Amino acid sequence: MTVDGKITTRTFAPVDFTSREDKQHLWRQRSLGDAVLIGRSTLVHDDVRLGLPPALRAEREARGQPPYPLRVIVSNEGRIDSALRIFQADFSRIVIFSTTRMPRKYQLALREKATLRLSETRQVELPRMLEVLRAEYGVRRVACEGGAQLFRSLLELQLVDQLNLTIAPYIFGGSGAPTLTGRRPDFLMPGSVRASLGEMRVVGAECFLFYRLRYHRNAM
Ligand SMILES: NC(=O)c1ccc[n+]([C@@H]2O[C@H](COP(=O)([O-])OP(=O)(O)OC[C@H]3O[C@@H](n4cnc5c(N)ncnc54)[C@H](OP(=O)(O)O)[C@@H]3O)[C@@H](O)[C@H]2O)c1
Repeated sequence: MTVDGKITTRTFAPVDFTSREDKQHLWRQRSLGDAVLIGRSTLVHDDVRLGLPPALRAEREARGQPPYPLRVIVSNEGRIDSALRIFQADFSRIVIFSTTRMPRKYQLALREKATLRLSETRQVELPRMLEVLRAEYGVRRVACEGGAQLFRSLLELQLVDQLNLTIAPYIFGGSGAPTLTGRRPDFLMPGSVRASLGEMRVVGAECFLFYRLRYHRNAM
């Protein structure tokens, strides 16, 4: 995020405002997960494949993991374009957690490229999703890459235990650009979240922070 806490611009432009070091940091965190998790909007805006460079794949294999993490997409409405880059790369399985609201034509197109887990509920139940990932896909560690809306949902449910945050040397300004938890003005956490600093590294003009999160019941 920028110095003023923004994770993108107000138009959600695919801005690239962090260094090569930060990209490597992101890949490393991704490589530690059994699964990598992403929200539909981030997938569309950034059009990422969620791959890994060879050295990190080799480290995974040395640890007894498959070379790439399972790729997991979350969407309530399920309108995910099957032409996105992620679906052109078959290096690891893709699982989409969505609902039966996903229109039929999307279901047909996506079934060829991914496993669809569609619930009858209006919204994806994230705790249930994590249970399924653990029980049926052997996932013990999930690396969530956002975006803000998905991160906020996970936080509200107290499902995030660690946070990696890079502060980049920019200020975007304005209230339209989302912060880490988005831009909904009425959003309040149900209780306070205490972030304990576990590590801080300064490389060039960026600050790399690692936090452990603890949750408290008191309302904000
Ligand atoms: N700077 C960074 O490190 C960073 C990191 C990540 C993202 N970003 C940026 O953030 C922007 C996107 O932010 P965002 O908040 O719009 O994105 P997001 O969380 O990636 O996507 C929101 C969409 O994901 C689905 N979703 C989110 N939470 C869900 C839940 N609890 N259950 C079911 N589905 C859920 C919904 O999809 P449906 O609408 O399909 O139902 C929702 O509309 C992009 O511009 C991206 O570049 C920046």
